[in-house]
Amino acid sequence: MSTYSFQEHFDEKLDKDQTIEPKDWMPENYRKTLIRQISQHAHSEIIGMLPEGNWISRAPTLRRKAVLLAKVQDEAGHGLYLYCAAETLGISRDEMYEQLHSGKAKYSSIFNYPTLTWADIGAIGWLVDGAAIMNQVPLCRTSYGPYARAMVRVCKEESFHQRQGFEIMLTLANGTDIQKKMAQDALNRWWWPSLMMFGPNDADSPHTEQSKKWRIKRLTNDELRQKFIDVTVEQAKVLGLSIPDNDLKWNEERQHFDFGKINWDEFWNVVNGNGPCNKQRLDMRKNAWEEGRWVRDAAMAYAEKNKVKTEKQAA
Ligand code: 3HC
Repeated sequence: MSTYSFQEHFDEKLDKDQTIEPKDWMPENYRKTLIRQISQHAHSEIIGMLPEGNWISRAPTLRRKAVLLAKVQDEAGHGLYLYCAAETLGISRDEMYEQLHSGKAKYSSIFNYPTLTWADIGAIGWLVDGAAIMNQVPLCRTSYGPYARAMVRVCKEESFHQRQGFEIMLTLANGTDIQKKMAQDALNRWWWPSLMMFGPNDADSPHTEQSKKWRIKRLTNDELRQKFIDVTVEQAKVLGLSIPDNDLKWNEERQHFDFGKINWDEFWNVVNGNGPCNKQRLDMRKNAWEEGRWVRDAAMAYAEKNKVKTEKQAA
C-alpha cells in the first residue's frame, strides 16, 4: 500500500473510533506524541511516589500506613504499565529513564511541592488523584490501544486513591480545631497546583488541537479542568472547607463555576525546574537508579546464564 493509503487507513480507523495497535501503520508525529505523553505520564507516576512515600513511616495509625503503602505501591504499578505501553512504540526503558534523569522529559509539576503535614496526604489523594481520575477516565478511550487498556486498570485503582484521600480530609475536618486548620492549610497549598495538572489553557497548549484530532485527547485541558472544579467545589462543601479562590462563583448561565486566574508564571517556573522540590525529587530518582544498578546487572546475568542453559538443553 502507498503511504497515502496507509494514511487513509489510519484516518479511517480513527473515524470509526477503532484503536490503533502497535503493529498498525501510524504517522511518525502520532507515534512521537504518544511516546512523549505516555512516558511523561509514567514518570509522573513514579516521581509521584516520593511525596507520599515520605509519610509512610509517619502515618498516624497502622490502618493509614497500610492504605498509604498500598497506594504508593499502586503508583509504581501504574508507572510500569505505562512504561510498557510506551515501549510498544519503539522507545526503550533505558532511553525513557535517561530522558527523565537528564531533565529532557517532564513529569507532572504537582509532585514538586512538599508534603508538610499528614493533611497533605489527604489533599493529594482527594485533589491530585481526583484530578488524575478526571484526566485519565477519558484516556480509557484514547486512540492508542495499549495506552487505553493500561488506563482501565489505572482508573480503578485511582478511585480508591481519591476515596482514601477524601476520607483523611473528612476525618481531619471533623476532628479538633487544629486538625481542621491542618486540612484547610493543605487545601490552600494544593488547590491551585492541582488545577495546573490539566496543563496550560487550550489557547496556550501546543499539543491539544492535534491530540484531539488524533483522539489521543477526548477532552481539552480547559474542559477537564472545569469538570474537576465543578465536582470538587461541592466536595469541599461536604468537608466544610473553603476553596482558596475569592473569584469562585457559580455561573447559572454557564452552569459551571467561574474561577480565578491561574498563576501560569508559577506553573512554568516549576515545570522548568525551579519548584520547591524539583532537585530533591530528581536526585532521589537518580540515586535509586544508581543504587539499583547491581540488581539490574544481576538480573541480566541470571537471564543470560539461564538462556545459555536452555539453549544447551535444546541442542
Ligand atoms: N506538569 C508538567 N508539564 C506539563 C503539565 C504539568 N501539569 N501540563 C502540561 N505540561 C507540559 C506538557 O508536557 C507540554 O510539554 P512537552 O511538549 O515538553 O511535553 C507542555 O506543558 C504543553 O502542554 P500541553 O497541554 O500542550 O501538552 P499535552 O497535550 O501533553 O497535555 C497533559 C498535558 C494534560 C498532562 C497530557 O500530557 C496528559 O493528559 N497526560 C496524561 C496524564 C498525565 O500525565 N497526568 C500526570 C499526572 S499522573 C498522576 O497524577 C498520577 C496519580 O496517581 C497521582
